[in-house]
Amino acid sequence: MGNGMTVGLGTGSTVTYLLTALAARDLDIRCVATSPRTETMATSLGLRVEPFSHIDRFDMAIDGADQVTPERWLIKGGGGAHTREKIVAASADCFVVIVSSDKLVPVLEPPVPLELLSFGLRSTLRALGGAKVRPDTPASPDGGVIADWYDPFDDPTALSAYLDATPGVVAHGLFQPGLVSQVVTGRIDPPGPIR
Ligand code: A5P
Repeated sequence: MGNGMTVGLGTGSTVTYLLTALAARDLDIRCVATSPRTETMATSLGLRVEPFSHIDRFDMAIDGADQVTPERWLIKGGGGAHTREKIVAASADCFVVIVSSDKLVPVLEPPVPLELLSFGLRSTLRALGGAKVRPDTPASPDGGVIADWYDPFDDPTALSAYLDATPGVVAHGLFQPGLVSQVVTGRIDPPGPIR
């Protein structure tokens, strides 16, 4: 990370640690946030956050994830920000994922977050079969309905293609390995005596 770079900022609790560390470096960087929550925090820390309409690519995007496999398949969207997160990740020369070691999994497991268009929602849910609207969850900043796919799956490529091809699905939380440049894993130490 260096002066002059454009940086995509993800969403989630991991990203809040990143924002603090990034702001402390006092670099001259231009950022785009993937959620109002990230934008508010980044701005309050003094990072320069610009509308995505001002920037067409990123030198780097950094985000967390809910699950990461050894092949670097990700599930994202536990916080419902996966649509914007995927657009930003796909616009970055380098997409870095930071996770704690409990996010490392041998294979992906449902639920897979979805964002659905509100127009025709009942029809989209009927077509999908395995999806349910996430309870007590506000619409995305772009007006989408946050839902989750619950049916078991063993082929993320096939499920990703199926969801991409279903009208009414704005985006889903399966991120293919080709999007991911690097996974940085932090270790969770077991609780122990304070020395
Ligand atoms: C936001 O919608 C998500 O994609 C998060 O990036 C992901 O759920 C990781 O969040 P935490 O860092 O809070 O675990």
